[in-house]
Amino acid sequence: MTAFDEPRFVDGVLHSSVTSDELLKAIRKLDIRDDDVIVVSYPKAGTTWTQEIVSILFYGCDIEKADEKYIRHRFLFLDMKKLDSSLGPHEIAASLPSPRLIKTHLQSNEMPEQLTTTKAKIVFIARNPKDNAVSLFHFSNAIAPRDRQQSWSDFFTDFCEEKVIMGGWFKINTYWWSRRQDKNVLFLKYEDMQKDLTGGIMKISEFFGWPIPDGKLDEIVEHCTFSNMKSNPKTNYSDSPSLDVNSTPFMRKGKVGDWKNYFTVAQNEAFDKLYEEKMKDTGLLFDYEL
Ligand code: A3P
Repeated sequence: MTAFDEPRFVDGVLHSSVTSDELLKAIRKLDIRDDDVIVVSYPKAGTTWTQEIVSILFYGCDIEKADEKYIRHRFLFLDMKKLDSSLGPHEIAASLPSPRLIKTHLQSNEMPEQLTTTKAKIVFIARNPKDNAVSLFHFSNAIAPRDRQQSWSDFFTDFCEEKVIMGGWFKINTYWWSRRQDKNVLFLKYEDMQKDLTGGIMKISEFFGWPIPDGKLDEIVEHCTFSNMKSNPKTNYSDSPSLDVNSTPFMRKGKVGDWKNYFTVAQNEAFDKLYEEKMKDTGLLFDYEL
């Protein structure tokens, strides 16, 4: 079974049969603890990058300690049942000691209800929707069975209509943007991290109140560059059973502006119009090239 088997809509969000209705209900009821450390994103927005930084700071800026575990195992992924486990993610979460590191792409209507009121700190990483779509297009095809491979044109249509696995970019980004001023929410942008990785790491450090010892910052920045994370087996998902990173690397290009190699002029115009319609009241803007 894969993340693409027998997809169906549950409350407007496309899920595969890996994620049953019962599981989604149980995740809604998960108890969130005040000291949970939570990374939320739309898939392919720079989640792994954010997780690597958060976990290094969490482990007192001890890079080796953070990288003892594969990034896949460092955070509990809340959204799906592991294929090799009889327990659901909510059951595993309940059994973990505090403080827990949690990652989720769940939409606001399906994430744990307590995330709306919790004091736990939440980092949301957002990426401009054009590059986010291209990255997700590649990833989806990399993990989909042959009969569910999509052309860019079909994927683009589904992305615009918010009919891709894990739901819509517009929906999740609008929700977390509306909470950006909550004391326990840090809203980051992938493009800002590209422009100033040092600044991004410092923001995360200040948000959690995890200081960076003198002389460590440059080392963390260097460790978290795209090329270093791409060659690091602990972060490049080469351990993933569902992804052949030799043919389709998880760390693909790591760029702002790759969308220009995919969007036709017509698609770009249509997308800009759609963005204006859906997002005009939010004030959420992105860099599309650097
Ligand atoms: P591309 O497919 O555009 O290369 P996620 O972790 O949410 O799945 O996001 C994956 C995307 O983030 C991929 O984008 C990946 O290359 C990019 N990425 C991961 N680490 C990065 C880093 N250190 N610097 C820049 N981009 C990074």
